[in-house]
Amino acid sequence: MNNFKYKADSAQTILMCPPDFFNVDYVINPWMQSNCGKVNAATAQGQWENLRQKLAAAGNVVTMPSQPGLPDLVFTANAGLVYGDVFIPSRFRSSERQGEEPHFHQWFANAGYKIPDWPKDVYFEGAGDALLDRSHAMLWAGYGFRSDANAQWFLAEILQIPVQSLELVDPRFYHLDTCFCPLSDGYLMYYPRAFSHASLVAIEAMVPPEQRIIVPEADAVEFACNAVELDRHLFMNHASAGLQARLFEAGFGVTVCPLGEFLKSGGTAKCLTIKLVEAPYSGAMLASAAA
Ligand code: ARG
Repeated sequence: MNNFKYKADSAQTILMCPPDFFNVDYVINPWMQSNCGKVNAATAQGQWENLRQKLAAAGNVVTMPSQPGLPDLVFTANAGLVYGDVFIPSRFRSSERQGEEPHFHQWFANAGYKIPDWPKDVYFEGAGDALLDRSHAMLWAGYGFRSDANAQWFLAEILQIPVQSLELVDPRFYHLDTCFCPLSDGYLMYYPRAFSHASLVAIEAMVPPEQRIIVPEADAVEFACNAVELDRHLFMNHASAGLQARLFEAGFGVTVCPLGEFLKSGGTAKCLTIKLVEAPYSGAMLASAAA
C-alpha cells in the first residue's frame, strides 16, 4: 500500500536529524581537518534547535532518529535526491558515511517514496550535489570531490529531466550546495571561484547577469551559499551587510541562524535539511527546456 504523503500540492516539509551523536570524528573535507573532537555538543544542540524552530515557523519540519556512530547523519541533504514521489538514494564516497545509507533508505521507503536502482559503483551524494533549478526544468549536478561525473547520466535517465553538470575545483567547496544556490524566479546565489572555467561558462550562459548574486569569498567561507529558501526567505549561517542588501534588492528576506559548530564539519543550514516536497516539472516546462 502506498502511504506517500509529500505530494506536489502539500505544504513544504523539511526532514532534519537531531545532532545527538554529532561530532567531528574523522576528516573527509578540509573543514574537519583541525576540528576532530572539538564540537561543543550543547552549543550544537542549541544551534540546530534554533534552525529547526525558525524553519518550523515558515514550513513543516519532521525529524528522523539519530544513530550512534554516525556523526554526519545530521546532514540530511546527503540522504539522496527527492523529485516528486521518487527518492534516489546516495552512495557515499567515504566509508565513514556509507553506514548512513540504510538509515536514509529505510526512512524514505517508509514514507512511501519510489526508490529506483542506482549503480553500485557510481558515487552520488544526493541533494548535497544535485540541486533542482527553481525556475527552469533542469537539475544542476556537481562533481569533482564527492559525486562522480557520470552520476549526471543516471540522474537524467531516471528522472527524465535535463541535467547540467558543474565541476567543483576548490576543496573547501566540495559539495555543490556549499557554493551554489538556485533561488526563486531564476536567481542564483553562487561563489564563482569554486567552479572550473568551463562550468562557469555554462552557468553564465544559462543565468543572465542581473539574476546572478555573486557571493564574495568572505561570505562564501561562512557558507552563505548553503541557504534554505522558503517562499523567498533565506535561512543561512551568515550574510554580510553587503550580501543581505543584494538579496533584499532581489526580493529575498534573510534570517541568519548561526551554525558554527556544524561548519567545523563542513556543513550549515542547507546541509542540515532536505525538502520532502519537490514538485516534478510539468510536461510543458520540460518541452520548453528541450526546445
Ligand atoms: N562532514 C560532512 C561531509 O564531509 C558534511 C556534509 C555537508 N553536507 C552538505 N550537503 N554539503 O560529508
